Amino acid sequence: MKPKALLGLLLLLNCELSSCTHLVVIPGSSLELPCLPFQTGYTGAAITWKFNGEDVPVTAQSRDSPRVRQGGLYLSLSHVTAANEGDYLCLIKENGMEMIRTYHITVLVLFMYTVKVFEGSTANLPCHFPPSNEVKTDAIWFKETNREKRTQLPLGDNNSRVEQLYPLDHDQAILIRDIVEEDAGNYICQSPEGQSLSFVNVIVEVSPTAVPHSCSGFTTPWETCQDENSRTGQPMLQESITGFSMKLYSFLRESQPSSNLLFSPISISGLLSHLLLGTRGDTRKAIERAVSVPHDFHCVHLQMKKLREKLASSLQMASQIFYNPKMNLSRSFTNQSIQFYDAEPTRLLETSEENTQMINSWVANKTDNKIQHLVDSVAPSTQLMLLNAVSFNGQWKVKYDAKPKKGLFTKLDGDMVTVPLLYHPKYMVALNYIVQLKAQVASFALTGDASLYILLPHSSKVTGLQQVEERMTETTVRQMIEEMKTTSPQQVEVTLPQIRLNIQADMNMLIKKLGLSSLFEDANLCGLCSEERIILDDARHRAVLSLTEQGVEAGAVTSVSFSRSFPSFSALRPFVMLLWSDQANVPLFIGRVTDP
Ligand SMILES: *[C@@H]1O[C@H](CO)[C@@H](O)[C@H](O)[C@H]1NC(C)=O
Ligand SMILES: *[C@@H]1O[C@H](CO)[C@@H](O)[C@H](O)[C@H]1NC(C)=O
Ligand SMILES: *[C@@H]1O[C@H](CO)[C@@H](O)[C@H](O)[C@H]1NC(C)=O
Ligand SMILES: *[C@@H]1O[C@H](CO)[C@@H](O)[C@H](O)[C@H]1NC(C)=O
Repeated sequence: MKPKALLGLLLLLNCELSSCTHLVVIPGSSLELPCLPFQTGYTGAAITWKFNGEDVPVTAQSRDSPRVRQGGLYLSLSHVTAANEGDYLCLIKENGMEMIRTYHITVLVLFMYTVKVFEGSTANLPCHFPPSNEVKTDAIWFKETNREKRTQLPLGDNNSRVEQLYPLDHDQAILIRDIVEEDAGNYICQSPEGQSLSFVNVIVEVSPTAVPHSCSGFTTPWETCQDENSRTGQPMLQESITGFSMKLYSFLRESQPSSNLLFSPISISGLLSHLLLGTRGDTRKAIERAVSVPHDFHCVHLQMKKLREKLASSLQMASQIFYNPKMNLSRSFTNQSIQFYDAEPTRLLETSEENTQMINSWVANKTDNKIQHLVDSVAPSTQLMLLNAVSFNGQWKVKYDAKPKKGLFTKLDGDMVTVPLLYHPKYMVALNYIVQLKAQVASFALTGDASLYILLPHSSKVTGLQQVEERMTETTVRQMIEEMKTTSPQQVEVTLPQIRLNIQADMNMLIKKLGLSSLFEDANLCGLCSEERIILDDARHRAVLSLTEQGVEAGAVTSVSFSRSFPSFSALRPFVMLLWSDQANVPLFIGRVTDP
């Protein structure tokens, strides 16, 4: 670069070349620092550059690290990031003479936040990718350990106190739990390309005084659906549910790579969408994101109702809310809950036994006795419990041989077990090899306009199963359904195991994986009840399914229960105690505990 052009650049940086030492640059820009003012082609001297006290290597370490050019006459920085911030020093030695020129570079960060938190609570650190960016990789978070050094925060490590809320989303916020004094300081969120996205100053306040609960600004009813007969509403919901279902399946298969799995995505969706009706603020946004529903899709509840009605010939879905009679539920929530979910909130009874019985009999009734037991007890602190139950009955369109038969099922580990079979020498079935899924797929027609699709991997090994599962996305599964629908049924010799699954999925894990852990700490249910702070304390999902000579019978129930959130007090460190007579108003014992 010619000195003139260089001068121009530096002037642009609002700095006069000869005296300039302090440069303020925006992330992503490039600049060139001259070692000697107004001198080019001068090579007689030994020139070294230092950055924050360390020698800058003559060959650059990476694409973005500083480059020494023309024997040290220039130092060039491309794509400046916060990592480039600091002191640059150029040292010239010639004939026993030394000359030093220094620059201080400050990288301007575009979004700065200050977050004040109490010790022991959770801090939410904001960071967003620009809306135009496509999100392929998550941002990287750093904590500044001192003026020059920084350490990367461990994300995705599930024992860590740091959690990424929405992986692969434009919102790259993180949570830091159980804040301690040492967490105070500066945090930097950076794009994978090194662009600084946000700078968060965390201030930790020590003496905790509970933040008062307030629903102010959050009590308006759910927006009315403007376009009840919109043609796009139903496909939008179908797409959301399918996408959501595949997401749930992938979380479950990752956590249990080889055991039986069963869950009902429609029941979980039904429950979360009912809960959505009562959430506001960030909790609403988190649920919308979790169930893949756009924020402005106000018609989601109406579409859910229409979907439930459409399914009614094969699947019955019921919702219910039990609440503590001391709670005042919002009128509009009660009203909309009846309108969209056919669920009139019901009061909880006095004792845990009565409530357990009431809830379990509701579940048994709504699943046609397929699931008779969901909860063992109901804690007295329970404020609210939402339930969703589904029951499915479909008869085979073509009946199987009633004669009992047995066969061998090969398990993933190669072991074989004897199972009762459903067998037919000439069954009418659509059969196809689906390339995108690497599976042989058969579809069995059921009454009530439903079908059972069985995806058979090419081998009984775990790798065969994984190949199919990894390929199952909303798109490939939809394509498979389309392809199977156009495949004509043919006569096939069919052998299926008679199965009976009864599986309780780890709903608490799913809630976490769905980015809803904040419900466990501070749920904004202001649309439902504005007086108390309540938090999620338990979530369950149980599903049963059996394949019999008659057909497929399946049922599922999903529940979430909320309790009052109490401030905590933990004396698990040295303390002083006083035993006091309130009657005489004098101390009886005084002590101190440092080693219990
Ligand atoms: C998360 O924890 C579970 C058990 O607590 C462990 O099996 C799993 O590998 C962990 N996952 C990661 C990404 O650390
Ligand atoms: C519910 O409302 C009643 C009447 O408005 C009020 O007296 C009561 O304190 C409220 N309950 C709670 C838990 O705030
Ligand atoms: C309840 O819903 C009905 C319509 O279903 C409406 O006319 C009524 O005003 C609503 N009441 C409240 C309190 O929101
Ligand atoms: C469920 O309850 C309703 C109303 O009490 C009753 O008519 C129905 O037979 C019950 N269903 C089952 C499966 O118990």
